[in-house]
Amino acid sequence: RTRIAALYADMEQLGGTELTVAGWVRSIRDMKNFGFVTLNDGSCFKDLQVVVNRERLGDETYEGIVSQNVGAALIVRGTLELTPDRPQPFELQAETVTVEGASAPDYPMQKKRQTREFLRTQQHLRSRTNLFRAVFRVRSVAAFAIHRFFQERGFLYVNTPIITASDAEGAGEMFRVTTIDPANPPLTENGKVDYSKDFFGKPTNLTVSGQLQAENFAMSFGDVYTFGPTFRAENSNTRRHAAEFWMVEPEMAFCDLEGEMDVSEEMLKFVITYVMEHCPDELDFFNKWVDKGLKERLQHVATSDFARVSYTDAVKILEDAQNSGTMFEYPVSWGVDLQTEHERFLTEKHFKRPTFVTDYPRDIKAFYMRLNDDGKTVAAADCLVPGIGEIIGGSQREERLDVLERRIQELGMDPEQYKYYLDLRRYGGCHHAGFGLGFERLVMYLTGVDNIRDVLPHPRTVGNADF
Ligand code: 4AD
Ligand code: MG
Repeated sequence: RTRIAALYADMEQLGGTELTVAGWVRSIRDMKNFGFVTLNDGSCFKDLQVVVNRERLGDETYEGIVSQNVGAALIVRGTLELTPDRPQPFELQAETVTVEGASAPDYPMQKKRQTREFLRTQQHLRSRTNLFRAVFRVRSVAAFAIHRFFQERGFLYVNTPIITASDAEGAGEMFRVTTIDPANPPLTENGKVDYSKDFFGKPTNLTVSGQLQAENFAMSFGDVYTFGPTFRAENSNTRRHAAEFWMVEPEMAFCDLEGEMDVSEEMLKFVITYVMEHCPDELDFFNKWVDKGLKERLQHVATSDFARVSYTDAVKILEDAQNSGTMFEYPVSWGVDLQTEHERFLTEKHFKRPTFVTDYPRDIKAFYMRLNDDGKTVAAADCLVPGIGEIIGGSQREERLDVLERRIQELGMDPEQYKYYLDLRRYGGCHHAGFGLGFERLVMYLTGVDNIRDVLPHPRTVGNADF
């Protein structure tokens, strides 16, 4: 079987040869004496036009083919004919056609355009549409580009656990993991659920971030990264939040906040350039049907510097905007967490490019971020991009044992739970930094698709966990 991608890659070589292609019908046109079947086999964005000839195939076979429905699985043996004068560069003149699997007439993925909302109800079939084939190809290529970026720079790929007993972000938005039967839980003497009888002998949850374990590895391998599933029970039903998403988390020993931002910026540019090079058909499709400015914007982002601004200055910019009439749903003042609307104002209206906002107030950031000399802010850097807002959250980590212990105490966290984490500061601790890239947000950015539900193969969001 030859894949359609190989036909496009090697058409000069393959022109005139006989070969077999297997794929699914996208459309069929019956012109009485001959017909056109458009096939796609998933190997590339483009389709293959198959020509079926009544005389050559015989009446019965011919009728059997042109009466197939969209979605049918066919195996076609035929001769590849180059057609330089037509819109498509070649077609396959069918010698034999086998209907491997017919498709019922109520096949939901018809040629007409369907709404994204409808397609979300068809998670098992939607990857056969142009839009989703393009999205998931970009997703795959971007994942490869990320590995390549870090591997080429000597980073170690580490798999951090999915089930954990600690809350890496201290935000409490976790999915519990338990084998206890809620209808019949073991109870302690004072009537509480007895987690010492649970599978792990204590309460556990799905990880919200692999950072704490990645830090362990950074203290032995220097530069490491994770790339894995992450879970958050955030009750926010937005375009950019999922309950299960993938995060890329590099962690670098002997690295400060500037170095961390440099690596984030370089990585984003690398992935954008890589995807533009390796998914030209997909990007053309997005540029035409999803977001008209996409290619130009990506090109620009890949080749120009990101903006960098402190939280304090960013708040001044937003306050100035507020004073000159911009209406925010959530008013801004120093100390508040930036909302999506503020992030988008900064990147879309003010800086008009990806922007790092640094040195946030410590009270709105996680416990592990390094306290700045002002005692009020921490060495954090969020990367915001137009259309989405925060795509990366990063920081320099608190490497000073006493400062970190004090912070854990202040926040009422259980030091016993962070014993291992604190040990890293006892045995050869060093300054280090890292970040977390929300992989789906990156895919949204690369495709112009504006809803996280449409870049996850099987999205899990509040109220949705089908299939
Ligand atoms: O900013 P966050 O919460 O940072 C961390 O988890 C750090 N431990 C990362 C690190 O320094 N190693 O999350 C990082 C990124 C966000 O910028 C966002 O892109 C993405 O993860 N993200 C989500 N993506 C989809 N759905 C959600 N519910 C997300 N929550 C965070
Ligand atoms: Mg964040």
